[in-house]
Amino acid sequence: MDTRSLWEHTLTFFPQFLSALRERAPADATVAVVGASDGKFVLPLAATGHHVIAFERDPVALHGGEVKLPGGAITHSRGLIDRLRMAGLDGQVRLVEGDFLDTEYAEHRCDAVWTSCSWHYSANHRRPLPDFVTRMQSLLRAGGLFGAEFMMPVEQRHTLVEHYTSPEKLSRHFTTGWDMLLTLRTNEFIERPHVGQLHDHTHRMGLLLAARSTN
Ligand SMILES: C[S@@+](CC[C@H](N)C(=O)[O-])C[C@H]1O[C@@H](n2cnc3c(N)ncnc32)[C@H](O)[C@@H]1O
Repeated sequence: MDTRSLWEHTLTFFPQFLSALRERAPADATVAVVGASDGKFVLPLAATGHHVIAFERDPVALHGGEVKLPGGAITHSRGLIDRLRMAGLDGQVRLVEGDFLDTEYAEHRCDAVWTSCSWHYSANHRRPLPDFVTRMQSLLRAGGLFGAEFMMPVEQRHTLVEHYTSPEKLSRHFTTGWDMLLTLRTNEFIERPHVGQLHDHTHRMGLLLAARSTN
């Protein structure tokens, strides 16, 4: 039975996040994934022994349902819950279903937090980008690892929305109390069609990795 993520072919700096995680936290560390979708990052983290807290607001991503694929075909996609169960990893993952910006969840004990291209979603534009970033930061213990890859502006309309940001702008939220570990940016690149973007499309992406200071 195929349980691949619908997002498996999209560009990611997750390997850079993983290598920083391995340097800084034990194999059973707790990692929060904000915008977990159907588990492209949750499953590999859980499979390597991490405890994962997965935040996701989209019921289809969690429970499965009909999705439109490039070419127009409609398919039934497995959601995160099914994929975890089939991989025998459901015991490793705590799901927090709902909007991350509204959730009451705040344990402040995670060893790391990761998000991939989530905060530019239009549902998040009603709140300033720093709300999203500081909520992620607040999940971390001292020494914890913050990782975010994000969309940078490509079209004119993106320049009007602060959620399409840059490593430089985002860094301003990581001054006092943070050690900056890595920032990266791509040039514009063409990504092949995938769910949600049914035609070739242009992206520009950034990455920021930082650690909460221990003193
Ligand atoms: C680009 S998608 C896919 C995630 C990732 N890029 C991947 O490859 O699996 C980002 C996900 O973030 C989720 N998301 C965006 N804003 C969110 C929020 N405020 N709370 C919870 N989930 C959110 C969306 O529902 C979507 O599933």
